[in-house]
Amino acid sequence: MIKTITEPIAKELEEFEKYFRKVLNSKIGLLDTIIRYLVARKGKRIRPILIFLSAGLAGEINLRTYIAATMVELLHTATLVHDDVVDEAKERRGFLSINARWNNKIAVLLGDFLLAKGLLVAIENNEFEFLKVLSEAVQLMSEGEILQIQSSREMQTDEDRYFEIIYNKTASLISACCEIGCISATEDLESRFKLKEFGRLIGLAFQIRDDIFDYVGQSSLIGKPVGKDIKERKITLPLIYALQRAPSNEANSIISLVKSRKKKKDIKEIINFVLSNGGITSAQNRAAELVQKAKSILLEFPDNPSRRSLLYLSDFIIERDR
Ligand code: IPE
Ligand code: IPE
Ligand code: MG
Ligand code: MG
Repeated sequence: MIKTITEPIAKELEEFEKYFRKVLNSKIGLLDTIIRYLVARKGKRIRPILIFLSAGLAGEINLRTYIAATMVELLHTATLVHDDVVDEAKERRGFLSINARWNNKIAVLLGDFLLAKGLLVAIENNEFEFLKVLSEAVQLMSEGEILQIQSSREMQTDEDRYFEIIYNKTASLISACCEIGCISATEDLESRFKLKEFGRLIGLAFQIRDDIFDYVGQSSLIGKPVGKDIKERKITLPLIYALQRAPSNEANSIISLVKSRKKKKDIKEIINFVLSNGGITSAQNRAAELVQKAKSILLEFPDNPSRRSLLYLSDFIIERDR
């Protein structure tokens, strides 16, 4: 992460890492080996960062904020481990995914273990409000993943459907992060609703940027392969916009191509179609609009270091290359 973003919470993040590792232990030898593999491959920690900054914006970071951050990173990691089974993805964070390094059975069970740990962190600390907000988000994430499968079967190219999917599978959790970060620091309901909406907006932008990577990302940077969405008939915003802009006969033949079993050159053709019809630029602009709106919510809060970081983080979400 960029230093300017994490500077005001550097100490807290270090402390969080210790807490996160401590929670993750098991007496089972094999599980312990897998956990060690997992924790050695850190993600960007965007969700914990959002929790700390939201707490710092609305009040003061305290023990509850750490509990929230730990819970969320556990749940997030669980969904990634499961997602790589669902997507048959062999790479994650620049290394072999759990399902590739071990197998699907191990990945399903590890995901369950992480999910259970996440829920337990809430219960052991009597954080039932966190539990409620996050369980709702996890339910939406599962629904989003399944709606995505349904939509690819139906070859849905509808923009509203796309937004429903990405809200469920990604923005709901990011929104929940900002909400519980806020809850950890204040009882003020207005701040809570504002931060929840802020999280929803940047969460949508975050997934749009992720979907753009599938077309123009550098796999060495993002740590996962490109072209995978198209291969799996996932119709994301760059393609949706390109289809809207292209002449209808061309659009129809691309849809048929997306539907079919594709070779490398077909994937290239689809990528070129998206690029030449402005799909990437339009999707990027849409993400930028969402971030603009998100930032305007932040400006309703008084200025402080957390607010400045959240403003940077909002821009980072659409400028990032990993
Ligand atoms: C990946 O999330 C899953 C999506 C919602 C696109 P991140 O990109 O935050 O994953 P890590 O934790 O940094 O690896
Ligand atoms: C991310 O979805 C996983 C969840 C949000 C549950 P994707 O499948 O689109 O993301 P990556 O590209 O694998 O990280
Ligand atoms: Mg997926
Ligand atoms: Mg995936």
